[in-house]
Amino acid sequence: MSDLNLNHQMIPFSSVKNDQPLRGEVTVPGDKSISHRALIFGCLGHGRSKISGLLEGEDVLKTAKALTKMGAEISKLDDGSWQINGSGIAGLMEADDVLDMGNSGTSTRLLAGLVAPYNFTSFFNGDDSLRKRPMQRIFEPIKMIGAAIVSRQNNFLPFAIIGAKNPLPISYAMTMASAQVKSAILLASLTINGRSSIIEPEKCRNHTEIMMNYLGLKLAIEDIEISGCKGSKISYQGMQEFDAKDFTIPGDISSAAFVIVAAILIKDSKIKINNVGLNNLRDGIVTTLIEMGANIAIENEQILAGEKVVDIIVEYSKLKAVEVPASRAPIMIDEYPILAIAASFADGVTKMNGLAELKIKESNRLLMIAQNLQKCGIEVKIGDDYLEIKGGFAQPTKQVDIVTNLDHRIAMSFLIMGMNLEGGVKIDDCSMIDTSFPDFVKIFKKLGAEFN
Ligand code: S3P
Repeated sequence: MSDLNLNHQMIPFSSVKNDQPLRGEVTVPGDKSISHRALIFGCLGHGRSKISGLLEGEDVLKTAKALTKMGAEISKLDDGSWQINGSGIAGLMEADDVLDMGNSGTSTRLLAGLVAPYNFTSFFNGDDSLRKRPMQRIFEPIKMIGAAIVSRQNNFLPFAIIGAKNPLPISYAMTMASAQVKSAILLASLTINGRSSIIEPEKCRNHTEIMMNYLGLKLAIEDIEISGCKGSKISYQGMQEFDAKDFTIPGDISSAAFVIVAAILIKDSKIKINNVGLNNLRDGIVTTLIEMGANIAIENEQILAGEKVVDIIVEYSKLKAVEVPASRAPIMIDEYPILAIAASFADGVTKMNGLAELKIKESNRLLMIAQNLQKCGIEVKIGDDYLEIKGGFAQPTKQVDIVTNLDHRIAMSFLIMGMNLEGGVKIDDCSMIDTSFPDFVKIFKKLGAEFN
């Protein structure tokens, strides 16, 4: 895709009823969240480090390219790993051009936090989907640090961050569970003199904290309870320098989720996914599918650079509906589209609560799930922050047209849906799958999928 998405080329793609079971052993590409963070911390350490298993999806490559524009030295080696020459926590320079964030909310929010305490100006822009996503959530803490921001409608890309001349440590109570906001503040705090602290009202993915800990940075994390929710207070004393260290990135559970649900739904399937990151703040999809009756086994647990990594074995299973509590949303926020597909084949009505954040992802996912499921003949009730999906339906015999609105997870979820529909589906645009899961088709074909 071209820079800033000016000539976006839609790639329609269809999936058809898969009569063959899925069988075999695969690995999925590296975890997207950890890949972004490994690149960033690689640049901020002292010395050379190597990243193995980096996700080479467009989102992560946007982070790499932006860091390179700010003077970082990042290169791909012949053995497929990535090498970074880190120049210390304050080693970045002003970019001489706009930083193109493509479709990536994570690149935008993390890098905006990172540059806020630098005494230079950074310009950010992104594609049609990203320019609709709210950025106020990072602007607020960034301004408290002392940076100035000029943005479209005070909330959207494009925006410019005029870095703080004298950055101040902040104490910030987040109003939503967002790992991107938390990480933006933590990355800013690296180069702020003094102790910054963040209160998260509900615990959400903690890859930044785990990575900082792995790198030897001293971070204080305290469990707290806010209105019955389990949150944390994270404090960090800025200006700690560190030596660069190598990373091995585990497979992305958010990508594995598509393979897992496909195997559950297609008769007689049995597959194994090796080396998947199963951090306990990312495992909501596995917990929920097991509650629904899925036959999933977890094996070979190990800890890699502080992250829990496992092999997952999954078989065709009959599912029953469950009510998914709102408290689970932060630990499976990206998996609702594919869970909705699983729920469509479960016995009974599955209710998923606490989904308000889905409205501001790569698309309005709450709406896109509901509208596309309805086209497939499924009874769906959509509320302001919930979905109810009635499993079991009269299958459409004609191909169903799916609209994705530049959302990779909607595209992948409905390709799995098509593998279970008599008439299959036609997805309007699958180009965005490359943002997070570049080997999607290859991996499914290896397992026996019959994509067109
Ligand atoms: C991410 C955090 C989540 C998630 C996104 C990746 C991260 O977003 O949806 O795909 O790497 O920190 P929020 O922070 O908006 O919840």
